[in-house]
Amino acid sequence: MDKMNILLLGSGGRESALAWKIAQSPVVNRLFIAPGNGGTGAYGENVAISPLDFDAIEKFVDGNDIEMVVVGNEDPLVEGIYDRLAGRNGLLVVGPSKAGAALEGSKDFAKKFMVDNNIPTARYRSFTAATLAEGEKFLETLNAPYVLKADGLAAGKGVLIIDDLDEAKKQLGEMLGGMFGKSSATVVIEEFLSGIECSVFVLTDGNGGYRILPVAKDYKRIGEGDTGLNTGGMGAVSPVPFADEEFMKKVESRIIIPTVEGLRKAGITYRGFIFLGLINVGGDPMVIEYNVRMGDPETEVVMLRIASDLVPLMAAAAKGDLGELVLEHNPKTAVTVMAVSDGYPGSYLKGKEITGVSNVTESTLFHAGTKVADGKLVTSGGRVIAVSSLGDSIADALERSYRSIGLFDFDGKRYRRDIGRDLMNL
Ligand code: AMP
Ligand code: GLY
Repeated sequence: MDKMNILLLGSGGRESALAWKIAQSPVVNRLFIAPGNGGTGAYGENVAISPLDFDAIEKFVDGNDIEMVVVGNEDPLVEGIYDRLAGRNGLLVVGPSKAGAALEGSKDFAKKFMVDNNIPTARYRSFTAATLAEGEKFLETLNAPYVLKADGLAAGKGVLIIDDLDEAKKQLGEMLGGMFGKSSATVVIEEFLSGIECSVFVLTDGNGGYRILPVAKDYKRIGEGDTGLNTGGMGAVSPVPFADEEFMKKVESRIIIPTVEGLRKAGITYRGFIFLGLINVGGDPMVIEYNVRMGDPETEVVMLRIASDLVPLMAAAAKGDLGELVLEHNPKTAVTVMAVSDGYPGSYLKGKEITGVSNVTESTLFHAGTKVADGKLVTSGGRVIAVSSLGDSIADALERSYRSIGLFDFDGKRYRRDIGRDLMNL
């Protein structure tokens, strides 16, 4: 394979981990990250372009002989970046077309897709303001708790889980009345499923070829013991002990193959990562949601556990044929613990100096909300640094991450001390 110039879009911990992995490939010439963060400059060249500024991206691609674009976050995919760029002068784009991105961009579309393809998921119906009364009646047929989902993207906040029937009816009215703007003009109501969740990632070439990446579990709540507000993710672990061979066989036959085949049958172009948010219901996997990109902070552990060069795999997927390429998993355990700003996921201060990062030697620091200002590394977001380690067990990897997180500091540094603990007691 000839060496290629790659443009990676995004600025979070996920993109740091992708950049770290891509930069190790012998087939990369130059790697650019748009816009990147205070850590990605160690792996490539940051470029001050927003992933949603398609005109600027197109110009940059043309001016810098970019041969492959890797899209980290969902917004440009849902807005159609694949359709805009793929195939222009042979450009490879890792991701789904706009039609495929609707698996994340519209929960109503995703649910219909699952039902059409016999993919196990919670029973559901969709409603609009015109059918509010029917929605209230449907709620009466379900048992508590009630799950209400805004159809469109809502920055991870569009799902409400409510114990009380009257409260659920009230919130349904508010969602349909514009609680999440046009994202909640349609609301999916579904049955509540109970079980442990995990994240399965698949790289597909859109022509029936796919590879399964290491499985991960993320920790969404701000507080220890999974309490408090939802965040973008406070930590992650891979592998996940309950996602054993038997469970993964079910995931492959009942979910992955029908998903890949369903996309193909529908004529939907999809050459990139599929994120299956799964729940283990008594040993049977069911789909909670699809995302059309890698997870954050799951990518921070998944990349540590991919032994193969990811660049030829992504390029082959984007060309539409994974062929015989192998995606090998590292058998070790990876964990990541997110250092966040005090106040997150509510309001928090930015611009706090981060000191001591060069003291860390036994973990990889994937920067998320950091930037370099006046020559200093400072915080610029709620999730600041994903402290990621490999070890022989969850306990061993956690010890490394927790030692490392004590070696750097910023005013208001917070983190969960119980990442992975639920999995150690299984
Ligand atoms: P989503 O944005 O679809 O991932 O939903 C956010 C979170 O809500 C999920 O990660 C689950 O923890 C929870 N959730 C969503 N749908 C259900 C469901 N049908 N049953 C139980 N929990 C759910
Ligand atoms: N960690 C969940 C997500 O990336 O959506």
